[in-house]
Amino acid sequence: MCGIVGAIARRNVVPILLEGLKRLEYRGYDSAGAAVLGGAADGKLQRIRSTGRVVELEKLAQAQGLNGDLGIAHTRWATHGVPSEKNAHPHVSGSVSVVHNGIIENHDAMREALRAKGYVFVSDTDTEVIAHLINSNLRDDPGSGHALFDAVRRSVAELVGAYAIAVISEADRDHLIVARHGAPLLLGLGDGENFAASDTSALIQVTQRVIYLEDGDVAELTRAAVEIVDTQGNAVERAVHVSQLSAAAVELGPYSHYMQKEIFEQPMAVANTLEMVTSAQSLAPQLFGVDAEKIFGDIDSVLILACGTSFHAGMVARYWLEGFAGIPCNVEIASEYRYRQSVPNPKALVITISQSGETADTLAALQYAKSLGHQYCLSICNVPESALVRAANLRFLTRAGPEIGVASTKAFTTQLAALALLTMVLAKMRGRLPAVRETELLKSLRHLPTALQSVLEVEPQIETWAREFVPRHHALFLGRGIHYPIAMEGALKLKEISYIHAEAYAAGELKHGPLALVDKYMPVIAIAPNDALIEKLKSNLQEVKARGGQLYVIADQDTRLTGDDVLHIIRLPDHAGLLSPILHTLPLQLLAYHVALMRGNDVDKPRNLAKSVTVE
Ligand code: M6R
Repeated sequence: MCGIVGAIARRNVVPILLEGLKRLEYRGYDSAGAAVLGGAADGKLQRIRSTGRVVELEKLAQAQGLNGDLGIAHTRWATHGVPSEKNAHPHVSGSVSVVHNGIIENHDAMREALRAKGYVFVSDTDTEVIAHLINSNLRDDPGSGHALFDAVRRSVAELVGAYAIAVISEADRDHLIVARHGAPLLLGLGDGENFAASDTSALIQVTQRVIYLEDGDVAELTRAAVEIVDTQGNAVERAVHVSQLSAAAVELGPYSHYMQKEIFEQPMAVANTLEMVTSAQSLAPQLFGVDAEKIFGDIDSVLILACGTSFHAGMVARYWLEGFAGIPCNVEIASEYRYRQSVPNPKALVITISQSGETADTLAALQYAKSLGHQYCLSICNVPESALVRAANLRFLTRAGPEIGVASTKAFTTQLAALALLTMVLAKMRGRLPAVRETELLKSLRHLPTALQSVLEVEPQIETWAREFVPRHHALFLGRGIHYPIAMEGALKLKEISYIHAEAYAAGELKHGPLALVDKYMPVIAIAPNDALIEKLKSNLQEVKARGGQLYVIADQDTRLTGDDVLHIIRLPDHAGLLSPILHTLPLQLLAYHVALMRGNDVDKPRNLAKSVTVE
């Protein structure tokens, strides 16, 4: 979950490293550091580290006049050791300097072995063992022109766990060495200069030509070339991709926060995701990959694996897949599934849902499912070339564009759009989608971006609600049926950025316990579409009202409810039948955003969290 940047050039790389780190801050932001060579007159390594954001590191770099043509940098999300200067990367051992993303699982045993060799540890991190290990291997065999490369290769063979590392040595001003296993890392190709980073956005200012490293790869970068070897030590060529990412896609533009930008980008993100469908006259399984027709024809059920917001998308999909396509569906939290003894079904389609495609628990759950004999895997993901996409035999890329705010917004609604599409394709293949209904549904998909745009117009009303939430300590979210997972998503959004304790319940569960919490200080947010369960939900709202709870209801235009002093209603200007959960999500995202803002929180970088959870 940390961010790595490395550069070797014929110019000062410090601005490149700092700019890259700023773009990677979504991966972690509790401390940062950089080490460069080539600037100091005495040829010594210059290292700076600071707690807090990259901007603090930048001040330090300016104050010290940091300068060099070879360097590595890091922004951290603490796993081993509190956020502090001594735990910030790069970690140094002798001439070797290392930045690392991931977790080294055998760090205790290695620390003991390295201590026995006389190495002294000055941090609480697992990363420091990597620095000492490389130094130790380098000392053992300092001879060749590729000494650092060889030392890194020997060292990574001893590591157990997940890592992406970048390494430089004071003794070698012409090489930058990187390696990956289980954590993302790519190379950027320049003209007389080369780079490495955790993701493409970090390098967008210097190159669009990138190579995604495979697990087990170790690469040696010089100013002129890059050379890669695989786990077996064989030289390998990896494809060069031209990134389509534009600088504008990762800029804030007229917005104050990425979350705000991403909420308002949803009509466009959904339109892009559905582009291939909305111009089509009918639905085709090939939207999910060349083998989709064959695989979809053979499956008898669906198993969805995901975490956080992506898990909520899976929960919504279960209502669609079972209710509409008539296919049995289980949805599991990936971190639970991976350690549970379950009964595999080789005829089940395993679907992983992920914004980043790098979530460690989801990846491990997929690997576990495969090890149990599951053979059909579909990845619904926002990042092409990510580990989850590569591990699946079917894939559907949501085209939300980079999502930078830690709170997931446009990734969720585009995942829902993809899952609605999948439902329709499976329903059609199973003879449950008559042509007339298919035409109607394609029409509602085409209308979805416009409907989302009109829902965003409720923002001023949501701001009024948000003011009332600012002093609250708790909130309950209620929904029924397919809108229950939307209530869960609303509660997750509010808690993660406003730090108000929020829980979601299926409204029918209220009287089985949570009703005890309701009094005049408890705001209760209910999702009230005009669907088959509305009368049931109204009874649940009466239960809240009778206990003095403050009701905040998000309803459709035609939901029959009347407002009074304990009942606040916002009516959505448009509604989309089957796609209603997608529309009802937006007011909840806006509520969380405005409450967090009014409470003075850092909306894009909430405390203790990071965007890509690449560790267990
Ligand atoms: O990248 P992924 O979709 O796999 O991430 C899963 C969760 O970590 C993520 O959705 C997280 O819950 C968000 N912070 C929610 O806003």
